[in-house]
Amino acid sequence: MTASISAPVEVRGLTKHFAAGTGLLRNRSRVHAVDDLTFALRAGTITALVGESGSGKSTVARLLARLYDPTSGSVLFEGNDVTSERSREDVLRYRSRVQMIFQDPFGSLNPVKTIRHHLSRPLRIHERVPRSGMDARLCELLVTVGLVPPEKFLEKFPHELSGGQRQRVAIARALAAEPTVLIADEPTSMLDVSIRVGILNLMLELKERERLAFLYVTHDLASARYVADIVLVMYAGQIVEQGPAERVLQRPLHPYTRLLLASVPDPAAGARERIEVRKGLASAAVDPPAGCRFVERCPLRVGICSEVTPELVAARPGHSARCHVTAPSPAIREDNHVESAHPALPR
Ligand SMILES: Nc1ncnc2c1ncn2[C@@H]1O[C@H](COP(=O)(O)OP(=O)(O)O)[C@@H](O)[C@H]1O
Ligand code: SF4
Ligand SMILES: [Mg+2]
Repeated sequence: MTASISAPVEVRGLTKHFAAGTGLLRNRSRVHAVDDLTFALRAGTITALVGESGSGKSTVARLLARLYDPTSGSVLFEGNDVTSERSREDVLRYRSRVQMIFQDPFGSLNPVKTIRHHLSRPLRIHERVPRSGMDARLCELLVTVGLVPPEKFLEKFPHELSGGQRQRVAIARALAAEPTVLIADEPTSMLDVSIRVGILNLMLELKERERLAFLYVTHDLASARYVADIVLVMYAGQIVEQGPAERVLQRPLHPYTRLLLASVPDPAAGARERIEVRKGLASAAVDPPAGCRFVERCPLRVGICSEVTPELVAARPGHSARCHVTAPSPAIREDNHVESAHPALPR
């Protein structure tokens, strides 16, 4: 399979395991934080990676930003496997094209440095503009992220800006490197609700104008519904459902996606029946045995769920889920006489 430029990043079988516990309590158990993920990030597309806290989303973001080495699997950038490229130059080149925006804009900015410093540094490191063009480019970057007039912001310090303005500076800093891919890990979760939509709108603008491939990491399905073209749902280190946003969010296949949706207020959803949720195990990704990791919480579980690990199966065109009942593989369907879409779920 050849990676195309329209999908600048592809991951194949991406896996990251950690030792469970910390310090002296570290033991032989392994947390399967990210287990065998395969997906592509396409240009001009926002891919939302959604799931509860602890499902492995930030680990995926960090693997893509090359802040972690994978346990196994690979990351391809424009068709080249970058997981084995380890020289400083290689990593720098990759990071200039694949930039990351963090949750806490204050923590990611140096409090004693001006906005001019924060934005001119990546321009110098990645040699994006000659010294003579520096000021013009700094102003252009600030305008791009909606900080106008730009001259008003250049000499300010982070504490002189609002949370939303700081996150815009962090985005401008990422754009300074002229990336093709932006990884945003919960970029609005520390901001006031009233200014979150401004950052989401900026992401939509950048997607269109710069044709960026976005990975938007969030636990908030409402915001994913607002911006995403593609949705990947993660549970206990695995992708349990993936597909076009409108299909995953309007006609979910996996009981976990239904659970997440049931907790999101959505006037359009009307009186859709709610799934009954059992309290479950938070440790489903620690030394996971065979079977479905969602089994302890699942109202639809059947006998095989705790014995056979479900595969990610395309139950509808471009729309896959990892569930023996709602997206059974042909072999499971034959052996257990289950339908391809469970009657408890809307088709
Ligand atoms: N550096 C690390 N060392 C050990 N365990 C980690 C580390 N980073 C994450 N984990 C574990 O991996 C799992 C996934 O974490 P994370 O990727 O942060 O999830 P999310 O971003 O979805 O909240 C959690 O169980 C977490 O405790
Ligand atoms: S495989 Fe079984 S336990 Fe897992 S989500 Fe599907 S029905 Fe529920
Ligand atoms: Mg996280």
